[in-house]
Amino acid sequence: MTVIVVDSADQVAAQAADLVVEGLAGWSNPLLGVATGSSPLGLYAELAQRRSRGRLDLSGVRGFALDEYVGLGPSDSRSYAAFVRDRIESPLGLERGAIRVPAGDTADPAGYAADYDREIRASGGVHVQVLGIGTNGHIGFNEPYSSLGSRTRVVELTAATRLANARFFEHVDEVPRAAITQGIATISEARRLVLVAVGEEKAEAVAAAVEGPVTTRVPASALQLHADAVLVLDRAAASQLR
Ligand code: F6R
Repeated sequence: MTVIVVDSADQVAAQAADLVVEGLAGWSNPLLGVATGSSPLGLYAELAQRRSRGRLDLSGVRGFALDEYVGLGPSDSRSYAAFVRDRIESPLGLERGAIRVPAGDTADPAGYAADYDREIRASGGVHVQVLGIGTNGHIGFNEPYSSLGSRTRVVELTAATRLANARFFEHVDEVPRAAITQGIATISEARRLVLVAVGEEKAEAVAAAVEGPVTTRVPASALQLHADAVLVLDRAAASQLR
């Protein structure tokens, strides 16, 4: 596990973009794993800017999203499918649908999740997986006490996560109670993991993930076991590291 600490959110975005570009380079069918949420927005904006300056061509990139709320279909603006379309595919110049997102509106979420996992494996594997971290140490929607061997599945969201994500909804009661998420083992099969974290509210989870034991209590601690996991942090997110 490598930890890079920089001064600002802009520098987090630039460093993470370098790691993503480097990790995708040289593959004929590059596969990018994407996270949604606030943390990687700067990274996606940085990649979009490099593209608009003619310095980057990601048009052949395909990939997979980490997760989706159960009950939200792609036409719902709060779905992760909408996030992927509007904040990733479109600005980065990827083909529409190039990034697969779990179908939140499927009639059989459990069966669908298992198929999604098989599809990732059959693709040959993700080259670079972008991650954020929850204040409780979650990655994807693998909440504390998720098995380190977990695969893509349906999970219940904790009250803390629903509250943290309530900002995207009118009321916390509207935040779905379940999600389809790639498992910790699924995520860990990506060749490179790039986790971005900004701000003091992530400092405790970051410290536990980096310096604590590898434990299901802190899902992000699984990154300690990965051969090419890089955490890119601003000073505030790194402030509880010794
Ligand atoms: C979203 C995801 C989550 C977020 C995490 C942090 O696809 O996988 O694990 O990365 O909840 O969210 P933000 O970045 O909004 O603080």
